[in-house]
This record gives sequence, structure tokens and C-alpha cells, in this order.
Amino acid sequence: MFSILIIYEAENLELLITELKASIPDLDIEVWPEVENPEKIEAILTWKPPLGIMAKFPQLKVIMSLGAGVEQILRDPNLPQNVPIVRIVEPRVTSRMTEYILLAVLRVHRQAFAYQTLQQAQHWQPLPLPETSSCTIGILGLGILGTDAARTLNTLGFPIRGWSRTPKNIDGIKCFHGLDQLQPCLSQCRVLVCLLPLTKETKGILNRETFSAMPQGSYVINVARGQHLVEQDLLAALDSGQLSGACLDVFSQEPLPENHPFWSYPQITITPHVATQTDSEYWTQSLIDTICCFRDGLPLKNLVNRQQGY
Ligand code: NAP
Ligand code: GLV
Repeated sequence: MFSILIIYEAENLELLITELKASIPDLDIEVWPEVENPEKIEAILTWKPPLGIMAKFPQLKVIMSLGAGVEQILRDPNLPQNVPIVRIVEPRVTSRMTEYILLAVLRVHRQAFAYQTLQQAQHWQPLPLPETSSCTIGILGLGILGTDAARTLNTLGFPIRGWSRTPKNIDGIKCFHGLDQLQPCLSQCRVLVCLLPLTKETKGILNRETFSAMPQGSYVINVARGQHLVEQDLLAALDSGQLSGACLDVFSQEPLPENHPFWSYPQITITPHVATQTDSEYWTQSLIDTICCFRDGLPLKNLVNRQQGY
């Protein structure tokens, strides 16, 4: 028998528990906060755990993040050293993120906002149809999600510039890396997509300097974390016309507070942190695979590098 603890509030938790037990009969599952045997817990499944909680389980041997981003786990100063952290990587999470980015990019590229205004004015006015080759897209973060979005957009003919921490060589994508190459990367980007993990290096990276390095009238899509964005700098860049608009799926405070200026800002499109999700069956299977690898002493996939913060 081996014990896992779930620290996660979700409507379909019972279903997850039933499916985990059906696939791994020797699994003992506890659900936080009612933990009967803390000394037996060997694995924790979580996304946004309360601070300090991980240190309460002396036998803890693996942490499984239910999210792709792990900053909520790494922020804990009492996180036990040397316990591996595995994050969720699942093909549907990737393809749905790419769908969202395609939607946001194509809305800009095919002038959806202009046609909406024309329709409201009941005005029949065809606009010139731009070539995809004239719209360079920048992607900050060339990891699992960024690379898929970059490749898919590139197959539609969009020139892509990608930025990562370490050098990359991806067919058809102009790759940049490191802080020194951020501004050169941005200089041609009509649309900028943020798909970086939230780390001390990337916090606040969508700021005045970044926006100024892009061509005037560019558009920003943030699907990573709200804290990548300096909110006041976005509003100033929209007011000055340096940016023409922004599509935001993530926010520093979620849910976005009722009185937040973003809600009523005409050039901002808001979604409630739904850029991607996976169906519970695939999600559960991915968790089962990780639990089985851990139980059987097999190498764990999708390990987080704690030093790098992602
Ligand atoms: P990933 O595979 O870990 O990729 C991260 C990428 O960011 C890598 O290319 C990495 O560079 C780059 N990077 C990290 N630090 C950097 C720095 N200081 N400078 C330049 N590049 C840097 O992550 P992922 O799976 O693609 O996910 C990215 C993020 O998306 C997650 O962390 C999460 O916050 C967010 N997300 C949001 C949603 C949503 O629904 N809105 C859903 C899932 C994920 P290297 O390749 O050189 O290491
Ligand atoms: C969602 O935001 C995730 O990190 O998976």
C-alpha cells in the first residue's frame, strides 16, 4: 500500500479518486485537510498548496503538480529539499493552448475588431486582406507550449521569432535567447505571445521597455501568468497607441476583481484562465502513469528543475 495526498479543490475530485483507485488498487488516497496518517504520505498531488504544508509529511518522496506552471509550489520556503517535482504535460493541454493562441492571433490578423466596429455602425466596408507573411509573431518561451504554437502559426505562413533562456534550433523559427537578445527578438513582432514560466527572471517582463521595443500598434497575448505583466505599463501603452490591444487569460489576481480597469478597457479581451484545459480522462491517465513510474522505481518524466524555477 502506498499513500498519496490530494491538495486540490475540484468538483470532480470523487471521480478522480475513483479512477485512481480503479487503476492502482494498492493506492491509499487522502484528501487535504483531513489527513489521518501524515507520516505515511509519500506523494502529493496539488496545484496551489498552502504555504508550509509540504514540510508536514516526513515520508514525502514526490510532488505532482496538477498544473504546467509550478511557481505556486516553488514559492514555499519550507519545501523539502530533494523531493522531485513532476508537472503535468499532456498533448491536449498543448493543442488547446495552441488553439487559443491561434484564435487570438487570427482575430488580430483578420481585423475582427475593426469588422465588429463596422458592423455596429452598420457599415459595409471591405478592408485590405493582409498576408500572414507580413505579420511577425514573437513567442516568449519556446518550451512545450511555445514550440507547438510557434510551429502551428508558422505553417500558416506567419514569420515567427521565439525567445528562450538557452539556445534553440527549430525549423522555420528565428530563435533568440537570453536577455541580450530580447530586444532584437521584439523589434519586428506585430503580435507578442507570453508563454514563459513565472520565475524571478520573468516576473514583470511584459513592461514598458518590452512594449517600446515592438513596432507601434503591436498586440500582446498573455497566456502564461498575470505577474508577467506590469498592468499600469499595459494601460499606458494602450493609451499612447504603442500597443493596439491585448488578449489576457491570466491575471495577478484571479478572479479579476469586479472593479478592475481591464474589464471595461475596449482594447482588452479577457478570458478567465481557460486558455487550455484537459479532459479529466486524459488528465487522470497522465497522473496514473506518473504514480506507476514512481511506485515501480522507473524514471519520472517532466521533472521540474528547481534551480531554474520551471
Ligand atoms: P516549459 O516547457 O517549461 O517552457 C518554458 C520556456 O520558457 C522554455 O523555452 C524556457 O527556456 C523559457 N524560459 C524560462 N525562463 C526564461 C528566461 N529567463 N528567459 C527566456 N526564456 C525563459 O513550459 P510550458 O509547458 O511551455 O508552459 C509555459 C507556462 O505556461 C507555464 O509555466 C504556465 O505558467 C503557463 N500555462 C498557462 C496555462 C493557461 O491556461 N493560461 C496553461 C498551462 C500553462 P529554455 O527552453 O531555454 O529552458
Ligand atoms: C495552468 O495555468 C497551468 O499552469 O497548468
